[in-house]
Amino acid sequence: FQPKVLAGRRVLITAGPTSEPIDPVRVLTNLSSGKMGYAIARAAAQAGADVCLVSGPTALPAPYGVTRVNVQSARDMLRAVEAEVARADVFVAVAAVADWRVKTTSTSKLKKVEGGGLPRLELETNPDILATVAALPDAPYCVGFAAESENLDEYAENKRRRKKLPLLVGNIAQDALGADDTVLVLYDDAGRQPLPRLPKQEAARRLVGEIARRLPLG
Ligand code: C5P
Repeated sequence: FQPKVLAGRRVLITAGPTSEPIDPVRVLTNLSSGKMGYAIARAAAQAGADVCLVSGPTALPAPYGVTRVNVQSARDMLRAVEAEVARADVFVAVAAVADWRVKTTSTSKLKKVEGGGLPRLELETNPDILATVAALPDAPYCVGFAAESENLDEYAENKRRRKKLPLLVGNIAQDALGADDTVLVLYDDAGRQPLPRLPKQEAARRLVGEIARRLPLG
């Protein structure tokens, strides 16, 4: 039995990695299975929400009842989010967005030269999708994720303040990557609230309940 705590709400979620092209056969990317974001999308749909999942490349099927928009790069992801955000009540940014992209993508495959030098890849910074959405005048309720390898409390609170988020969810990166269970810690104005170690789908269900409880009535 699943209470419909998000009935009538529209939830926009980013998930998975982004993939930034170097040339036609090579990319820069992050390690992200997409499991956590997809679990949240599934839990939100089961809680009655109308869910749009903007996903980078993953091996996962779209959860039942969820509208998926497939993207590759961070800039594609931002465009897809911008096209949907005005209708969203909640935005949950779970994607592991690549921090940098290659400035000039080669249209042909970079060749290895016998005994030759290395290709020079110039990088530039990708947009911060979550910070962009959180800064909108009519922003939905924004939830961020922070996967950190150490000092979770400090980094998570800093990130929450810097990106101006009502709620940030922390987890320990070595622990969460590709795994099926996870420990989530919620940070909001009231402080720090750890959830127990749970399978990702159950952690997602709990998180959806915590988000629903915090939403303004409407
Ligand atoms: O700064 P960091 O990447 O650790 O922040 C993590 C949070 O910000 C996650 O919620 C992630 O989805 C979001 N993010 C984003 N766009 C970026 C970088 C991070 O939406 N370019």
